[in-house]
Amino acid sequence: MKLRGQVALVTGGGSGIGAASCFAFAREGARVAVANRTLSKAEAVARRIEADGGRAIAIQADVAQSADVARMIERTAAELGAPSLLFNNAGVSPAGRITDISEAEWDRCLNIDLKSVFLSARCALPLMIEAGGGVILNTAGTFGLRAASNKAAYSVAKAGVINLSRSIALDYARDNIRSNAICPGYIDTPLNGSFPPAARDAFLYQHQPLRGLISADEVAELAVYLASDAAKMITGQIFVLDGGQQAGLFA
Ligand SMILES: NC(=O)c1ccc[n+]([C@@H]2O[C@H](COP(=O)([O-])OP(=O)(O)OC[C@H]3O[C@@H](n4cnc5c(N)ncnc54)[C@H](O)[C@@H]3O)[C@@H](O)[C@H]2O)c1
Repeated sequence: MKLRGQVALVTGGGSGIGAASCFAFAREGARVAVANRTLSKAEAVARRIEADGGRAIAIQADVAQSADVARMIERTAAELGAPSLLFNNAGVSPAGRITDISEAEWDRCLNIDLKSVFLSARCALPLMIEAGGGVILNTAGTFGLRAASNKAAYSVAKAGVINLSRSIALDYARDNIRSNAICPGYIDTPLNGSFPPAARDAFLYQHQPLRGLISADEVAELAVYLASDAAKMITGQIFVLDGGQQAGLFA
């Protein structure tokens, strides 16, 4: 078991990449706090982990709200122990050019996708420092490396997550805290549920060099590796899992 004794807190743990990561962390021996805005989704994941013999709790939290985030970290520490692995993964993916979206929509995306990482890390870091170390993982996205059309706020937020991951890595390395960003390409999760299969397949055929759909479980396996001691000298890095999309122009 690669994460025995760890306490993992996963935001957006009720669905997609977050849920797959909760299951994977639990399989590797971690106690898991499943945080989600919709409590019922977090509860379903926590129940399944416990049914499989693991230890998990469900926490309702809106990661864009600092009071919710503080409560989320406090409950994790009180019920499972201080979080040693924080996976900032919750996110939304709104479409729109800057002339199409309102100021409120811009703020909502930046707050959920980027400010949340600042809020959670700021709360968890003192506990990790006190414990002598920890790991922070952040789900960014390939649109944070190269912007996508019609995705202005999202592309900006994910670019911010990438450099915030690096900032944390530099600022807390001497506290034995590692921070890395995962950049998924197109992952088959409910986030992409509105994409009709035919349009999705055409998009992937055109843009993704390797054929096939990438599952949330594959992202979770990468997260397990980055959280484990096997990655103990890896920090401040960006891990792209995109079937080759970022390799260059594919024609
Ligand atoms: N699916 C993809 O193709 C893809 C690609 C690149 C990056 N990502 C990123 O991966 C992460 C996970 O996405 P997913 O594909 O698993 O999507 P998903 O919709 O299946 O899961 C996202 C979860 O986050 C939760 N959430 C949303 N806003 C929240 C908030 N304010 N507070 C707490 N929880 C909140 C949702 O309820 C949901 O359970 C996101 O950050 C997303 O931007 C996804």
